[in-house]
Amino acid sequence: MADVGTRKRVLSGIQPTHDSFHLGNYLGALKQWVALQESHDAFYCVVDLHALTVGPDPIELRRRTLASAAQLIAIGIDPAKSTLFVQSHVPAHNQLAWIMECLTGFGEAGRMTQFKDKSAKSGTDRTVVGLFTYPILQAADILLYQADQVPVGEDQRQHIELTRDLGQRFNSKYGQTFTIPEGYILKSGAKINDLQDPTSKMSKSAASQSGVIELMDAPEINMKKIKGAMTDTEREVIFDEKNKAGISNLLTIYSAITGLSIADAQNEFVGKGYGDFKSAVATVVVDFLTPIRAKAQELLQDPAHLTSILRDGAEKANLVASKTLAETYEALGLLPRA
Ligand code: TRP
Repeated sequence: MADVGTRKRVLSGIQPTHDSFHLGNYLGALKQWVALQESHDAFYCVVDLHALTVGPDPIELRRRTLASAAQLIAIGIDPAKSTLFVQSHVPAHNQLAWIMECLTGFGEAGRMTQFKDKSAKSGTDRTVVGLFTYPILQAADILLYQADQVPVGEDQRQHIELTRDLGQRFNSKYGQTFTIPEGYILKSGAKINDLQDPTSKMSKSAASQSGVIELMDAPEINMKKIKGAMTDTEREVIFDEKNKAGISNLLTIYSAITGLSIADAQNEFVGKGYGDFKSAVATVVVDFLTPIRAKAQELLQDPAHLTSILRDGAEKANLVASKTLAETYEALGLLPRA
């Protein structure tokens, strides 16, 4: 185990936009967060300020922020190993975001594909400015902690590039201040698709929730969703993403949870039908999720304990963030308060 002082630092964030994370979030990214805390100095952040871009209901936002933290701990993020905190508890995020906004070109921000997609869907009048500046706040989240690596899904690649550009731009204009982070883009092997629409990524924005496995759902519900997953009309359990997207997705899930290779997983089901296969997948998923759900529920029953964990996390985060912010202000020539 590397000494804490020499470990590389990782930072990542997740939005508290739902009551439950789904299996795609877990196998796609969060599982790696858990692994990285063993080898890295890890900072994990529930990005509630980013969630404001969708105008959430206040009661829901508060509930979901706590639920997100509870689930992160339940999947194995250990507050004794990682710094787990809520973004709005560390004011330096907004403060650095402003500085980064003053370094970002209007056109540059406008080229972010996530912004283009989202604003194309809702139209410019209904698109808030916060959605436009969203990646700049994200850059601030990362640069504040001098992160070496940022474990995120493929969809965040462009935001990491912007973060690097802004960090480099600041450093070359005002002197070395920020570590330039690398994306740690998580392998596509763990890309989980919707159970009913197995060529699309599992996502809460799907039209129907029947293809989405939620960490916080009752075991019977998830059991039923997996048994009802869309498959093809053949009978062999074979990994073939092009022709057998549904079966391939279930094999991916099975292999990610059991740790078996896809080939070994496939071998287990030679000569067995889809019914047996789906039952086996449903069983491993449900057995895996049941203790996670129980742990998250237990944490949510004691909000005072949970908020004290987050307070400690915010304190640790704030120490690092306020140091970077002070250096940034100094480099910019902002007059120190006497
Ligand atoms: N935009 C990220 C997502 O949607 C969430 C996020 C916000 C983030 N700030 C971050 C991820 C900082 C990594 C680092 O997934």
